[in-house]
Amino acid sequence: MAVVIDGKQAAASVILAVSEAAGSLEKATGVKPGLAVVIVGNDPASHAYVSSKSKMAKQCGFNSVQHSLPEETTQEELQTLVSGLNADPSIHGILVQLPLPRHLDTEPVIQSISPEKDVDGLNVVNAGKIATGDLDTGLISCTPAGAMLLVKRIHGEDLSGLNAVVIGRSNLFGKPMGLLLLAANATVTMAHSRTKDLAAVCRGADILVAAVGRAQMVKADWVKPGATVIDVGINRVPAPDKGEGKTRLVGDVDYADASAIAGAITPVPGGVGPMTIAMLMANTVIAAHRAAG
Ligand code: GUN
Repeated sequence: MAVVIDGKQAAASVILAVSEAAGSLEKATGVKPGLAVVIVGNDPASHAYVSSKSKMAKQCGFNSVQHSLPEETTQEELQTLVSGLNADPSIHGILVQLPLPRHLDTEPVIQSISPEKDVDGLNVVNAGKIATGDLDTGLISCTPAGAMLLVKRIHGEDLSGLNAVVIGRSNLFGKPMGLLLLAANATVTMAHSRTKDLAAVCRGADILVAAVGRAQMVKADWVKPGATVIDVGINRVPAPDKGEGKTRLVGDVDYADASAIAGAITPVPGGVGPMTIAMLMANTVIAAHRAAG
């Protein structure tokens, strides 16, 4: 059976380090890290994620600000809010929760966030820095940064000689994940919905990262024996065994079967999920440090 990679425990140690860093920054400079989280509309899952982000920011000793805007918010109103946060010296990190309601154009909103405050790492400046191999001076997207930390727990810092396959090519996850694996010397394949014989591609992976958004799509026979499997999916599926109308969270990997083949695997929940929030806090304290000089 595979080693279960405990994302909750890894996240807790990041949070501890972040809280200590926030405390010493404030003591030394008077600067308290500030995180503004912006959410537009009424999607219940997004509201749940955002409130856990705000709560964790408070727990880390940050100035935690949440802006909940109504569904009918206009592009201009949203971008005016972002401009105000860019100019606010008490705010060091800005996160606009995605997806935005359909009538809003996401890209100009993301690109209007100051690169120095872009704790999601989505601004072209931050995305470009990772693409050019600069992992030090920008801000790295939280979920791939957290997933990399888990990979490195198993394989160490240097992934030379290892084949990594990332399924999914989003700006938020797949692309930066591929680039981080590459920066650590893995041989990287970026697979996606148009990839031919995805199962065969996955079977070549020493490190298999699934971010497709489809419940349990990655089957046990896609997994190379002994591989490290990182499951980034969070899918809510019916769970009639728990009672009528009940649901449960599952990943993009068929965990029960794949964990008999893999060498190490992240569970859902309790794998990559907690790492995303922890790395968001880490990015905020980094941004605050840089702002404090
Ligand atoms: N929606 C789901 N995950 C994320 C994330 O990491 N950042 C933002 N901004 N929105 C998300």
